[in-house]
Amino acid sequence: MFLQGLWYFGALSAQVKTGAPLAVQIAGEPLLLGRDARGAVFALRDICPHRAMPLSEGVQHTGANGETHIACPYHGWRFGVDGVCRAIPSLTEDQAAAMDIGKIRTRAYPAREVQGLVWIYLGKEGEQPQGPPPRLDHVGDSAPRLHVEMDFDCPLDHAVIGLMDPAHIPYIHRQWWWRTARSVHEKQKAFGPVPLGFSMLPHQPSSNSFLYKLLGAKPQTEIRFELPGLRTEYVLAGGRQVTGFTAVTPVDEAQTKITIALYWDHPLLTLVPDVLLHKAIMTFAGQDRDAVQAQQKGLRHDPKLMLIHDADVQAMWYFKLKREWADARAQGRPFVNPVKPAVLRWRS
Ligand code: FES
Ligand SMILES: [Fe+2]
Repeated sequence: MFLQGLWYFGALSAQVKTGAPLAVQIAGEPLLLGRDARGAVFALRDICPHRAMPLSEGVQHTGANGETHIACPYHGWRFGVDGVCRAIPSLTEDQAAAMDIGKIRTRAYPAREVQGLVWIYLGKEGEQPQGPPPRLDHVGDSAPRLHVEMDFDCPLDHAVIGLMDPAHIPYIHRQWWWRTARSVHEKQKAFGPVPLGFSMLPHQPSSNSFLYKLLGAKPQTEIRFELPGLRTEYVLAGGRQVTGFTAVTPVDEAQTKITIALYWDHPLLTLVPDVLLHKAIMTFAGQDRDAVQAQQKGLRHDPKLMLIHDADVQAMWYFKLKREWADARAQGRPFVNPVKPAVLRWRS
């Protein structure tokens, strides 16, 4: 159902605090995201192996040796950040001595933190990631300066293709500060493959966007999409950057979470009050959410759908990328990116 062997966006670093485990669900997996006493992030399956209590509702302790433990709120069983049981308080001394509690465990997932984002690797149990989590260009080691989260009541694929689809823009996003329906014109953009997806290669953005004009100094933009659902938009202008990272993360088969994290060192964005920026992003993403949620009414009847050239080619690539990833993994061979360099044309 969901691609395995990939890093999934878990949370913002700022949301994962020492002593306050965070419950999230990714691709149907209930997870506890935590931060140990030394500040390192960890991820556990959020189900106590005793009687299924969410461990995220428990308490984090630091043991005598400095080791971080999570204590289940129901009967106090304690687990290390490796998921292995460390203590069962109800056992008498002789019972504990006769039992190997180290065999009791909840699953631990590889977790890492990069540029203010926490990544969780979903693969087979015990599988180690092939490489590090995604790293954004241009932002150095900075953390996002602003973020927006939104739940879409739709499956992952519709959320992803809804966000990458250029033809909906003049219909769904009509605010004056973005563009107007009258500004529609023919576009031509060059695309090429990137490791796990494709890029709308660096170009001067469309002149019908008011915001880009404000950035001045001939802005250059690149938009990348990579599996499992990561979209990054880089805008460079006069040696400064504005980077919009969007993680489209499946919660389960029917729910998708959108997290938009914004990085910048461009002075223009620093001038805009955070509340206004937040509101603008909420408006924009809310329009996408309303569209895909309305689409669910039609999809309930399971109609046949169409993808057409060239406006839907990115959606076609997305489905090809997914299929190739799943096939390569099933066949134990390297992933071969199915996207070839192409110029796409559409009106928007
Ligand atoms: S359910 Fe967790 S200790 Fe019993
Ligand atoms: Fe949109």
